[in-house]
Amino acid sequence: MTAVWLVSDDGLATVDEVTTWLDDGELPLRIASRLRAGGRASELSTAAIGAGVARRRARERWPDADRLLFTREALEQASDPEVSRWRARRFQGTRSVMDLCAGIGGDTLALGERVPSVISVDLDVGRLHLLRHNAAIRGLDVATMAADALLATPPADTWVHADPSRRDGERRLRALRDHRPSVPTLVDRHRRAPGLGIVLSPAIDLVDPDLPDAELEFVALDGALTEAVAWIGATAIPGVHASATLLPSGERRERSGAVPVLPVGPVGHHLIEVSSAAIRARLHTVIGEEIGAWRLAERRALLTADTLPDPSEWYRTRSVETVLSVRAKEIRRWLRLHDEHPLELASHGWSGDLDALWRAIGRPPRGPQGRRLDVVRLDVGAVAILSVPPHAR
Ligand SMILES: C[S@@+](CC[C@H](N)C(=O)[O-])C[C@H]1O[C@@H](n2cnc3c(N)ncnc32)[C@H](O)[C@@H]1O
Repeated sequence: MTAVWLVSDDGLATVDEVTTWLDDGELPLRIASRLRAGGRASELSTAAIGAGVARRRARERWPDADRLLFTREALEQASDPEVSRWRARRFQGTRSVMDLCAGIGGDTLALGERVPSVISVDLDVGRLHLLRHNAAIRGLDVATMAADALLATPPADTWVHADPSRRDGERRLRALRDHRPSVPTLVDRHRRAPGLGIVLSPAIDLVDPDLPDAELEFVALDGALTEAVAWIGATAIPGVHASATLLPSGERRERSGAVPVLPVGPVGHHLIEVSSAAIRARLHTVIGEEIGAWRLAERRALLTADTLPDPSEWYRTRSVETVLSVRAKEIRRWLRLHDEHPLELASHGWSGDLDALWRAIGRPPRGPQGRRLDVVRLDVGAVAILSVPPHAR
């Protein structure tokens, strides 16, 4: 088995060597022939090259990546260490946690820093070999179990953390029963644990019939929504139905009851894009009310206001330049009369084809950071809003 070799002295030395060659700019194909010429079996050289490539990719997130082992696929599935550390805080003070679907141990490493006893479970025996190596590098004593998360029985008083797969090849799985293993079955199986935390797709349907009775936390890292987590039992904050967290700052907002309904009105001087974590936790209307914003349509989360709100991590603002109808001729004429900026296009519930619209307006240079054309479906009809970042006016 290649994982057993990867964690051996010979395997680790080969991964180190391959990583150095990759750092020197050597191509994987050339490295493969070098390893083959040295008598290395092709299966082992593929594993070492995969681990070297993954390690280099992991450097920006794991400061000690050069001592850890990943496979490319396991790295893609691993939680970001910042997010793992955030989640692990909910297990602080417990004596024992079972980390289900542990992979190469992204979450196990963070849990191990807070909980004295961690048992890591995965179906993939190879990944568990790499996890044990990674835990040893961090000085953590972790027990591992190659088992189905639905059959593993946590010892008494053991809390449970689970990070099921949310992908089938390239396809992202959104329905809770499509997560692997299925979330409703995981909840049934482990709801008696004192505290339970299950990582979910951030795109879960809020009316998914399998949604457990839980605090749902939506987490964004560096502005991008990364995951939802269902907190059940002692991991949940009492009375909180949903929460939004922004990392790395740790800014948080919680929702316990009803939220305000913002009025719908015309496009104001500013567009306000509330963080997607807050939108998913249904907290954007609370934020909108605080800053005196209103909605553009019943079903749109994009907000607008006449007064520029104070800067905040919870939203980004743009200055509205003009509001036009969604007619290519009109937009083209307006763009011709104004400075050339790279133009970014975004659709908000509009059913038309953005690329076709871009071609029809004369293919202006496309790109972020400049002017943006938001095509927004309103309750009746649609509008094209041209805006720039606030400092650009
Ligand atoms: C999203 S990855 C976990 C990543 C991990 N938490 C980390 O941060 O490195 C999901 C893992 O679930 C495992 N898995 C899928 N179905 C499973 C099952 N029924 N029982 C146990 N593990 C399972 C996969 O092998 C994969 O390693």
